Amino acid sequence: MRIRYLIWTVVLTLGMGCGKNAPIDPEINEVTEPRFPSLPEEPFEYSGLSFPESWLNDPALALFGGFASDIEVTDAGATLGRVLFYDSQLSLDNSVSCASCHQQERAFSDPHVRSAGVSGALTQRNAMALFNLNYQRRLFWDLRTIGLENQVLEPIEHPDEMAMNLEALPEKLAQLDYYPNLFQRAFGDETISAERIASALAQFIRCFHSYSARFDRGLENDFTEFTAQEMLGKDIFFNGQTRCNQCHSGKNLFSTQPFINGLELDYAEAGDGGIGALTGDPFDDGRFKTVSLRNIGLTAPYMHDGRFNSLREVVDFYSDDIQPHPYLDERLSVNGFGSPGQAPYQLNLSEEEREALVEFLHTFDDTVMVAAEWLSDPF
Ligand code: HEC
Ligand code: HEC
Repeated sequence: MRIRYLIWTVVLTLGMGCGKNAPIDPEINEVTEPRFPSLPEEPFEYSGLSFPESWLNDPALALFGGFASDIEVTDAGATLGRVLFYDSQLSLDNSVSCASCHQQERAFSDPHVRSAGVSGALTQRNAMALFNLNYQRRLFWDLRTIGLENQVLEPIEHPDEMAMNLEALPEKLAQLDYYPNLFQRAFGDETISAERIASALAQFIRCFHSYSARFDRGLENDFTEFTAQEMLGKDIFFNGQTRCNQCHSGKNLFSTQPFINGLELDYAEAGDGGIGALTGDPFDDGRFKTVSLRNIGLTAPYMHDGRFNSLREVVDFYSDDIQPHPYLDERLSVNGFGSPGQAPYQLNLSEEEREALVEFLHTFDDTVMVAAEWLSDPF
């Protein structure tokens, strides 16, 4: 694993070095059948988007919030970001855009276990859903990248994703009629640079706000619209026995801390050690990002490797099948506290409880973001 990361670094570094001196490969610069984005005459008011007061005043979220608050979102900047996000011309052979693997109706995730990039090669992990990114300082399943503006250029360059040379990209985009004007409006002149591309993409994906689920309405009206089954599921999620909410916590139903949830006894041996593959520390073997459960009904398959096809499979796993990993998080043991690596709990949920928990998890699905026109494909 670590060796593989090293090789990537070397390849990327070499690639970038060549870009500086050698003439740009003409093949890379070819654009195909330019389609035109159709944009509203008056730009959407991205700069006016905000989270509800209850989120802004939430002390737990305030602790993690404010990441990426240095990214100023302007209407013209996010509009450009929207076009870039959906434009497959950002990839080497014009076949893959960010949206190929991050689909709006699926809360910007991918229904495939692993996603195919330009080379046809599959990504190493399941594509993540994208929303509420200003609460995410560290990105990717293994938290390896800090900051959105640093993250967004990585998939463009990555050989298994868009495989585009960042040095050549500005010149390529300049050949598309719609870009100079969009850059002019966003940044004051027509210059196209990797830095500006990163800024615009980061502005746009910062606007993926998700706080409109049935669960949120329930918080406001004391869950009067919930069915008996959903209420049972809610109780299981929040009771002190499963401790689901002790890791997937707060209004965003996530944690900024990575945890080991016991999918494997030995993750490195199973093929992906997560943070452990970066640190080489057995304590981190299988430690992965504690992703938000918002939109969870829309983002199958599940876990870093997409191993579970349905929420029922996830619930069956937590009920019966957590592995006795040597550093399993203590919340998944009977005690629920103390040192890591205690024997996993066996919830033995009844059929009725399993179904109820699945139904409840669906109340986290957003109803606005997944259909919002301002976040949709302009091509
Ligand atoms: C070929 C599929 C593919 C494409 C194209 C792609 N991504 Fe991703 N994306 C992924 C996968 C897979 C991951 C998780 C990778 C990992 O953790 O190792 C990911 C993770 C991310 C994350 C991290 C989210 C988090 O919560 O940590 C962000 C942000 C992101 N992608 C944005 C983008 C942007 C912006 C683009 C376009 C410039 C893009 N992606 C293009 C597959 C893709
Ligand atoms: C010790 C902390 C912890 C507890 C407790 C916990 N989880 Fe998780 N959960 C995680 C981590 C970490 C991941 C990501 C693991 C991975 O992909 O390797 C995860 C992943 C998930 C996913 C898949 C997310 C996705 O986008 O693929 C679901 C669904 C989920 N958990 C539901 C639950 C439910 C329901 C409970 C209670 C029965 C629960 N979790 C309890 C830490 C926890």
